[in-house]
This record gives sequence, structure tokens and C-alpha cells, in this order.
Amino acid sequence: MNHLVAPSILAADFANLQRDIEMINKSEADWVHVDVMDGMFVPNISFGFPVVSAVKKHAQKPLDVHLMIVEPDRYLKSFKDAGASGITVHYEACPNLHRTVQYIKELGCRAGVALNPHTPVALLEDIIGELDMVLIMSVNPGFGGQKFIQNTYKKLTDIKELSSRKKPDLLIEVDGGVDEHNAANLIEAGASVLVAGNSVFSAPDPALAISNLKHAIVSFRS
Ligand code: DX5
Ligand code: ZN
Repeated sequence: MNHLVAPSILAADFANLQRDIEMINKSEADWVHVDVMDGMFVPNISFGFPVVSAVKKHAQKPLDVHLMIVEPDRYLKSFKDAGASGITVHYEACPNLHRTVQYIKELGCRAGVALNPHTPVALLEDIIGELDMVLIMSVNPGFGGQKFIQNTYKKLTDIKELSSRKKPDLLIEVDGGVDEHNAANLIEAGASVLVAGNSVFSAPDPALAISNLKHAIVSFRS
């Protein structure tokens, strides 16, 4: 499968959000990655429903909503109503993860589960068959622009192995510190969706940065 690219609007210019979403619309991006932070699960607050709805109004690509919040069940329907196509919750925030995943699917959304850097892939053994996507965090969640954690490669290999045994069509997303230099290696290790914030929005030409991620195999594989 060709990999997907999901620019994270956390790194966009919030005062020019419509302009940045239109850039994504015209680019080779597949999804728009939307990071929601509550100041509880992570030590930062990003934005909530009104902003997600406003993004949805302009975005021509599916919204990939990454919830870094406690008790996400309370808000799943609201995020669906705000325009989410996919909803990813954190393993660490969901004591009844099976129920949460069923709820996301009942809402008609793609169901994803994210793992923090310290959470082993093996913990997904008994739920992976229910999931559409696993998000491997390659930084500690909460902020854009952090340094990529190298152990991510091992985790991608682990999730790839688990998915080939139990859920061959699983999407494997990697999020944090992704750029055109590590993209090809991440895909090689098993990633099928690349999230990128800073490496896209601080680039002189963000649409070109997206294109470079989309063609990472061709352009940058050594
Ligand atoms: C971090 C978020 C990421 C973030 C990635 O908690 O989940 O999606 O926007 O930003 P970069 O690509 O700058 O590391
Ligand atoms: Zn994210």
C-alpha cells in the first residue's frame, strides 16, 4: 500500500488557519491531522470543537483527530459531529478501551489507538483485531517540534509483526519528529501514515515538504 501523509495543523499559523488548510487542500496530503490536548492527559492545551468545526468547513481531506485527553468517551460524539473521519484515543487514557473503540466505530469513524513512547506494543495483542489504526508516538505527546525517539523503529517493527499475524490491513501511523530524512526509514520499518507538523509548516515551501514526504521512498531512500 502507498503510504499516507497527514500534516498536523498544530504547527499551522492559527491566525491564518484557512490559508494553511487551503495549502493542504492543494497539496499531495491525504489527511489533515488534528491534535486535541486538554491540559490533563498532556501538559498543554490546543483547541476544541469550534476550531475542529471551522477546520472541517474548509478542509477537502478527511480529518484525522488525535485525542490527547482524559475520558475521551465523553466527547467522541461531539468530535464526530465536528467533522472527524477518524478518531484516535490513547491507550493510557482508556481503562475500558474495548468499549471506547466500539463506540468510535458505531459513530461511523475509523478507530485508532495511540501508544505513548513507554507503552509496549504487546499490550494491544487482544484488541488489535478491532482496530483500524494504531498510532505510534515517536515523541512524548503534548508539543510539536520535539526530537524523534529512535526506539520508535523497534516499535514499528513490533506492531508490523503483530498486525501481520492478527490484522493485516491495520494502518500504522507515526507521529512526532517526522521529516523528509527519516520518512523512508519509517515506511521501511512499517509505517503507513506519516504525521508531520514542524517539518511541513516551518519549511520554506510547505506543499513541497508534503510532496517530499509523499515520495519519500523514491527521493530519500539511501
Ligand atoms: C504531538 C502531536 C503531534 C505533533 C507533531 O503531541 O501529537 O501530532 O503535532 O509535531 P511535529 O511533527 O512537529 O513533531
Ligand atoms: Zn498527533
